[in-house]
This record gives sequence, structure tokens and C-alpha cells, in this order.
Amino acid sequence: MYKIFDMPGDIKQGKGEAVRGGHGRGWLVLDCLAPRRLDRAPGWCWGPGLPPAAWVLGRGSSRSPPAMALQLFDFIAQCLCRFLAGISSPQQRLPLGFVFPFSCRQTGLDKAELISWSKGFSCSDVEGKDVVQLLQSAINKQELCHVDVVALMNDTVGTMMTCSTEGEPCEVALVVGTSTNSCFMAEAQQVEMAEKASGQMCVNTEWGYFGDDGSLSDILTPYDQCVDQESANPGEKRFEKLVGSLYLGEIVRHVLTALAAEKALFIGSMSGDQEPPALEALGLQPSEQDCCRVQQICRAVVSRAAALCAAGLAAVLSHMCQSRELEQMVVNVGVDSKLYWGHSRFGETLQSVTGLLAPECKATLLPSVDGTGRGAAMVTAVALRLAAQRREVEQLLAPLWLSRADLERVQALMRREMELGLGRESNAGSSVRMLPTYIRGTPDGTERGEFLALDLGGTNFRVLVVRVAQDGIRMASEIYVIPTAVMQGTGEALFDHIIQCIVDFQLKQNLMDQILPLGFTFSFPCQQLGLDKAVLLSWTKGFSASGCVGQDVVHLLREAARRKQHLGLKVVAVVNDTVGTMMSCAYEDPKCEIGLIVGTGTNACYMEEMENVGTVEGEQGRMCINMEWGAFGDNGCLDDFFTNFDRLVDEKTINAGKQRFEKLISGMYLGEIVRHVLLALVEKQVLFRGKSCPKLQTRDIFQTKFLSTIEMDGLALQKVRAILQDLELQASFEDSILVREVCQTVSLRAAQLCAAGLAAVVEKMRENRGLARLAVTVGVDGTLYKMHPHFSQNLQKMLGDLAPNCTVTLLQSEDGSGKGAALVAAVAWREAEP
Ligand code: BG6
Ligand code: GLC
Repeated sequence: MYKIFDMPGDIKQGKGEAVRGGHGRGWLVLDCLAPRRLDRAPGWCWGPGLPPAAWVLGRGSSRSPPAMALQLFDFIAQCLCRFLAGISSPQQRLPLGFVFPFSCRQTGLDKAELISWSKGFSCSDVEGKDVVQLLQSAINKQELCHVDVVALMNDTVGTMMTCSTEGEPCEVALVVGTSTNSCFMAEAQQVEMAEKASGQMCVNTEWGYFGDDGSLSDILTPYDQCVDQESANPGEKRFEKLVGSLYLGEIVRHVLTALAAEKALFIGSMSGDQEPPALEALGLQPSEQDCCRVQQICRAVVSRAAALCAAGLAAVLSHMCQSRELEQMVVNVGVDSKLYWGHSRFGETLQSVTGLLAPECKATLLPSVDGTGRGAAMVTAVALRLAAQRREVEQLLAPLWLSRADLERVQALMRREMELGLGRESNAGSSVRMLPTYIRGTPDGTERGEFLALDLGGTNFRVLVVRVAQDGIRMASEIYVIPTAVMQGTGEALFDHIIQCIVDFQLKQNLMDQILPLGFTFSFPCQQLGLDKAVLLSWTKGFSASGCVGQDVVHLLREAARRKQHLGLKVVAVVNDTVGTMMSCAYEDPKCEIGLIVGTGTNACYMEEMENVGTVEGEQGRMCINMEWGAFGDNGCLDDFFTNFDRLVDEKTINAGKQRFEKLISGMYLGEIVRHVLLALVEKQVLFRGKSCPKLQTRDIFQTKFLSTIEMDGLALQKVRAILQDLELQASFEDSILVREVCQTVSLRAAQLCAAGLAAVVEKMRENRGLARLAVTVGVDGTLYKMHPHFSQNLQKMLGDLAPNCTVTLLQSEDGSGKGAALVAAVAWREAEP
């Protein structure tokens, strides 16, 4: 259903604010369609169960405009008010789509700043303003508060969407009427002005302005120059003035005038009743030959317009084909054009020249029968659906978003748990164990010798030989697999397996005959009783080998060596991976007094003042404390921050209720959190069209390494789709964007929580030392930290916010923690030597 309203001329040309009297040409259409019935001809349908109808304001021309004194947008709002009288109830929210065929800087579907008027419109005080807001305020003034302007679009976009409603989608649209313009679906990552980096986005070319920089001067004729000079906007919209029907008649007139002046036309009169009424009506006395010539001229001008239009279209098509990396492209082009309908020659030329200039593209021109209204209603309906989906998504993700205040609370809680963990009496009540390591200093560069090292507890089990010499450190290493059955079998089998790997390594490295001191990186919580004595407190990260908890792991290793009759093993130090990493980085940078791991698990260690370590005798100097911060929150202090997703992940682990902070941050768990969020989104029908995905039900199917890949900058969404397809998830582009957003949310939270923990550490160190500012280096290791494209920046940024008085350098460990374990062994060996 639609109604046509006349628009007074002064409204077009007057002020955006207040306009008086006069007549002009132009009309507004109010077109109403129910989105679910878009496959039908335009019409009113508002049935039970249907979503609210979408209102569309279109534009056209009028015959007898009345005089009115109104603002432009007030006028539009009044028309709307009259149109709605009696057919809509204020209880029912009415979304409105606004077709506004002027050049706008659009920053959202409902945000569009008018760049400049054209086509005879020139209301002041509108250029540079948000047209949606202007219209919405005018509508509100009419007390139509139930009407919401949800989408504004150019007429080309409306045309594209109109032509898309049936059959194959239409990805390009062309408007050739009084004026001309086009739009097309571009790859979003190529649209620099858009914030979106993925998917596709419709770009309004505003090609009418093509040539305003002089680039068309070679093809402009003197007739075009005259038309331009006599126009309301000389020098502007040069392409439009060669193609738009507003100007074609003028071009023909100038050609005729020139020919008449040269006496090549209108020198004799026609005989009898053959005179063509069109020319006679102009007061001309054409001969038969004149008529033929005039026809020729008209054809030439129209053919040129069609050919130029084809050249523009071919450029758009070739660009699309190239940017999609296709050799051939099949595409539908919606065309809204009076010229297309009125001149068979125009359509033929447009089609054939486009084919000639862009032979790699097979374009089907689809004439738009219903103008722009239908498409605009679709855009509006889609905008509404997306807005509703967005609300669902935001509701679901909101618990994963942490505010600055949340993070400050986490930081304060960590600080409190650290203090408790350090106190002799309070230690038992703290979830952060703050384990002493008996390491009192970082390397000073005088360490020397050749050592074996073991690195157990990360993604890989490594055996290394490390040579520490004056000219630096040289290492050789071998990676060995620890099968899950061994990780979760008996302690004897685990340590036997480790000894077998050592023997294999020594054989390969020709080290069987030497007894080398050994440094053991054992990345699990241990109560250290000396440098070479460490009692395992609990397994973490999927290990559960029996008979180990409560035992000294060095003893377990020596026992296994005895069983395997390997007599040349001399274990001199056992260290946590955080400690190994700190020592290894401190060898490069003496400011390194913190070790951080963000890998399969997460943990940190740092140099604490002995006077604060209530759990060890002595007040002098410092000692490295293995915080075991992965267990932060196991006493319930972080319960407010756990989401349902975290609880679901925790429940299914072999150490439910334990390592709760680690389960928010580390690589072993992030993929699982994402999987649970995705399942919830499917259930809410906003992902994978709500279709159940059996594969997504499988535990650990979504690995954390996918987060790192999916979040890579500039990764084409095709690739994201491919990753999901490998998991048998049929993802659309929108699905891929949403999956990426979920990954970003989960990894950002992990980095921010890690920053809150680290902020507590650096601030405590600064206060310990009574400094106004602390400059400190953190040695960092772990696959998540190293492989994730944004984790380290997010961590650094948040850390800067939460600990503004500390200058923290994050130094990535390149050599693993085995090197650090060897350095600790070197010091222990030197001190043990007589
Ligand atoms: C390695 C260290 O580089 O990183 C290990 O050598 C440490 O000691 C590991 O445990 C942590 O990262 P991930 O990702 O392997 O758990
Ligand atoms: C787990 C371990 C801890 C280790 C960390 C990083 O949290 O308990 O000892 O440092 O993982 O690997």
C-alpha cells in the first residue's frame, strides 16, 4: 500500500529548518510491506504472527504541488503521520526504512551524514548532519514515537535488494534515470573506511562524480561543456552529465543548435502530414532529412550514455572478480532505469559493451519492476533481525566482558591471596600457594659447564644438553611424546618412560659415558624442600599418574633410573617452568625478575623479599616464589567472575573445582570455553541457523590453536569458514564473523585476567622496594602467548592501565625453560663442588 504526497519546491530548496511557500517537482512515497511476504507484489499485509511491517519512504516526482511552509523533515514526518492515520496503532512498534538517494557518509545502517545535495535539492543546514537523526526528531515531534528509523539506504541499494528478493542474490545495482549511480557488494576488508574487516559490504560508488578531477576531459565534447556550464552545479558530476536523462536532452539540443548554425539542419520544410509532432511541438520546421538526422543524433547520444554506463559497470565487475580471486564470475545486476525501458538500444548497448569490456564476468541484467521500496523494506527487516540477534549475542557474551572495576577487583584479590600465601599462619587458607623455590638470585654470567636438562609439563617433553661457556650458551634437544595413557597411568610407568627418553637422547648425543649434572624443569606445583627435593602437591593440566602426589619427584626419577640401571644420572636441581623461564631470560636481561607462563597452563614466579616470606626461615635477601596462581580462586574468591561456560568446562575436567584461574586463561581450556559459548548461541538460534551440530558436542574438538588462527588480522573469512568446515560446521559468512567475535571475547578476557594477576605482582614488588616507579622485565613462555596474534598486546595494554607506576617489559623466552634449569643446576653444582 502506498500513497503519493506532493512536495513543495521550497522544501527541496529551502532551509532544512524552516521553509516557506512555493511549488516544485517531487513526491514522497510511503510504501508498506510485511517482510515475510516480500516474495509477493508490494502490498499491505499485517497478519497474526508476522513481524511488524517495515515502512519505506521513497522518492519520485509530482504534478501539482501545493504551497506549504514546512521544514523538509517535518514535511516528511507529516506525510507519514497522514499516511498512518487510522492504519497503525501506537502500541505497535513500526520500523522504518528510508530510501535517501543523495550522497551520504554512512557509518552504520542508521547513521548517515549528508555530504551534498543534488537533483535540485538544496535545503540548508542538512549537509554534514545525520539525516536519520533529523528524520527521527521530526517523527518524534509528530508524536509518532512508535516509529523508529532503523535503516537508511541509497536508491541503488534499495534496487539491489529489490532485485535480490527472487532467485539468486543480486550483487550489483545500477540506477540510470534523471541521474546515475551504482552500488556493489565489496569484500569488507578492502573497504578502508569501514571498521568491519571481514565479510562483504555494499558500497555506494556515487559514480556520478567520476571525472570531476578532470579524468574524463579527453572524452568531453563542446556540447557536454555547454551543458555543464549551464547546469546548477558547473564542474560537478561530470559522469552523470554524460549519462543521466536530465542532461541527455540538453546535449542533443546543443548538437542541434550547432548543426542549425552551420546550416546543416532545418533549412527546408517537410511535406504533407509526415511531420514528426515532437519537433513541431518545439516550433521547428524539419524536413524529412532533418528528422532522420535528429534521430541519428538522439541515438548517438543515448548509445554513448549506454556505452559509458557499461564502461563503469565493467570496471565494477572486473574489480569484484579480481578481489574475489575468481577467474570467472557470474553475477546478477539489478537495473532501475527509465532509459533501459524506454530505449531498446540503451539496454542492448549496455549489455553488449559490458560483455566486451569485462569478458570474465557473466552479468545478467535484472530490471527492477518495483522501484526501491521492496528492497528497502528487506534491508529494514534484515536490520531488525540483526538487531534482535545482536541483543541475544550481547546478552550471552556480557558475563565474559570484564570492566575496569572488575579487573581492579581481581588484582586486589590476587594481592590479598599473595599476602595470605606468604604468611606462615595464613598460608593454608590461600588459594595461591606462594611456594618457596630456594632460588635466591638470578644468573650473574659466571656460570659454566655442561648439563643435562629435562623439561616436563608443557605441550612437549624435552631432553636437552646445555653447554654454558664464556662465549654463551649452546644447546641440543629432542622432543619426546608422553602418551595420554602414560600421563594418566602409574607413576612408575611415567618415570620409567622419562628414563627411557633420557637414555635414547644420551645415545643419540653420544653422552652415555659422561655423568652430567641434571636440571629438571617439572611444571607442576611442588613443595620444595631444597633445590633437589620437591614434593608434588597435585597434578594439573591433564596429568594424573598414580602414586606421585606427596612424593619427592627427584626421588621418583632416581628410583626409575635405578630400576632401569641407569647409573650415570646426577639430579642437582628441580625447578618450575616459570622459574626456568625467569632464569633463562635473566641470563639475557638482568632486570628479569619475574617468570610467566601462558601455555597449556598458566603460572608466575617472582623475586620476593625474604622478610616477607613467612614460610621460610631467614630475613636477608630475596627468594624466587613459585606462585602457582593457576589455583587462584579455588577457595571461592573468584566465584563472581565464573560464567556458566566456565562451570561447564570445569565440571568435565579431571580436576574439577581446581585450577580455576588457569581454566579461565590457559590454552588447555580456552577452546572448550569457546565451544560452550558456540553451543549456547546455536541454542539461541543465532548461530548456524540454530541447526544442531553433532560435532560441536564433542569435547575438545575446538582447540585453542583455532583461536589463534581465527583471530589473525586480515584472515579472509573464507579461511575461517574452512576451519569450521573441517569441524563439519557449515558456517555462513555471518556465522564466521560471530565465531571470530566469540574467540576474541574469550581470549581478551584471558589476557585481561592475566594482566590483573601480573599487575598485583609488579605493584607488590614496587611497594616492597619502596619505589615510586619500578622498571622490571618479565620472561614469558607458553604456546598461547607466543602463537596468539593479540594476546601479548592485550596483556601489555591492560597491565599498563592497572599498574601505571611500573614499566614492565615482556621478554619472550626463545629457548624454553630447560636452559634456565641448566643455569640453576650450574649454580648448585658450583656450590656443591669442594
Ligand atoms: C616451554 C617451556 O617453552 O613452554 C616449558 O620450555 C613450559 O617449560 C612451556 O612448560 C609452557 O608452554 P606450553 O604451551 O608448552 O604449555
Ligand atoms: C600449571 C602448573 C604450574 C605450571 C603451569 C604452567 O599451572 O601447576 O606448575 O607452572 O601449569 O605450565
